[in-house]
Amino acid sequence: MGFSQALCLLLLVFSNTLLVWGCYTSIFSFGDSLADTGNLLNSEANTSPLILHPPYGETYFHRPTGRASDGRLIIDYIAQSVGLPLLSPYLGNHGSEDFRQGVNFAVVGATALDAAFLNERDIVPSTNNSLEIVTIFSKLHYFLWARSEEMIFEQRNVEEILTLVPKVIDTIYSAIKMLIDNGAVTLVVPGNLPIGCSAAYLSIYESQNKDDYDPLTGCLNWLNQFSKYHNKLFQQELDRLRKLYLHITIIYADFYNPAMQIYQSPAGLGFIKGALTACCGGGGPYNYNVSAKCGNQGASTCDDPSMFVSWDGTHLTEAAYRWIASSLLRGPFTTPRFSSSCLSAVACKI
Ligand SMILES: *[C@@H]1O[C@H](CO)[C@@H](O)[C@H](O)[C@H]1NC(C)=O
Ligand SMILES: *[C@@H]1O[C@H](CO)[C@@H](O)[C@H](O)[C@H]1NC(C)=O
Repeated sequence: MGFSQALCLLLLVFSNTLLVWGCYTSIFSFGDSLADTGNLLNSEANTSPLILHPPYGETYFHRPTGRASDGRLIIDYIAQSVGLPLLSPYLGNHGSEDFRQGVNFAVVGATALDAAFLNERDIVPSTNNSLEIVTIFSKLHYFLWARSEEMIFEQRNVEEILTLVPKVIDTIYSAIKMLIDNGAVTLVVPGNLPIGCSAAYLSIYESQNKDDYDPLTGCLNWLNQFSKYHNKLFQQELDRLRKLYLHITIIYADFYNPAMQIYQSPAGLGFIKGALTACCGGGGPYNYNVSAKCGNQGASTCDDPSMFVSWDGTHLTEAAYRWIASSLLRGPFTTPRFSSSCLSAVACKI
């Protein structure tokens, strides 16, 4: 099939972010704010999302690029570490660019890239096959986005949230199968971040009961249990897939534990302003204020985002993303390790 013959791709499938990574040759990325490198910025969406305003992008790019952080995302660090350029957003290239080194289809908010939208555009990624996959993923992404972490904002009942997990996992499972059936050779499938440590969730679910909090980190136990539950089911599904597809390498990438290392010892890792308070926000105990979010007039920004883990309450700083990316790349947080997956991907590149 097109993908495996053309590129011998390595795929990264995030819980709500899907990346396709050809070891040292190209990266294709599908997802949302965890991975958007400018699609929303270049889309014709008539909203004016806060991430398109300063101070987003201030640290690395010195302007808003459409990334939901002060600088680079995990996907940017991965691209840099394998010697590839930072991923171009699919939107905004107007067909002028070739996508041999990959392209990013991730978009904050997700709805911009539906199938009809893609079909209207005459920019076609290298093969017809990949367009098909892209189209499938743009739909899938919307589906996942609508049903994953964002749901928690509206769903206060833990039991209800937990019942959603298998549905999300089923969808990812189907996505992985689809990619394999279309020629994917190696997949990397990261789990969830510890969402109970997010300034936004900590603010929304603030509790008077101190047993709700992990005494070491100050994170909300029940939300982190949700992440762990998701990650556990996810890994079981990956085991099922490994048995179905013996010739495919399926790697689990643990986002939870590298992030927890930060939350457990923020100062030791350079996050001296603590891990739970947002750098950019409009006040409150975690500097997350729904009436004055980062990018709004009522919000202010810290002097040095590299001392913070949380950028805007929902997204992390580039310093935190750098830690997670380097943890993944140097191990032991991927099973099997990235390095061995790279070798197998290179070996199948004819
Ligand atoms: C892609 O599909 C179009 C229309 O069906 C066809 O003309 C073209 O040759 C195909 N390209 C490849 C690389 O298969
Ligand atoms: C949240 O923002 C609003 C609007 O700027 C402001 O009036 C309010 O005092 C802020 N809340 C806190 C806790 O700082």
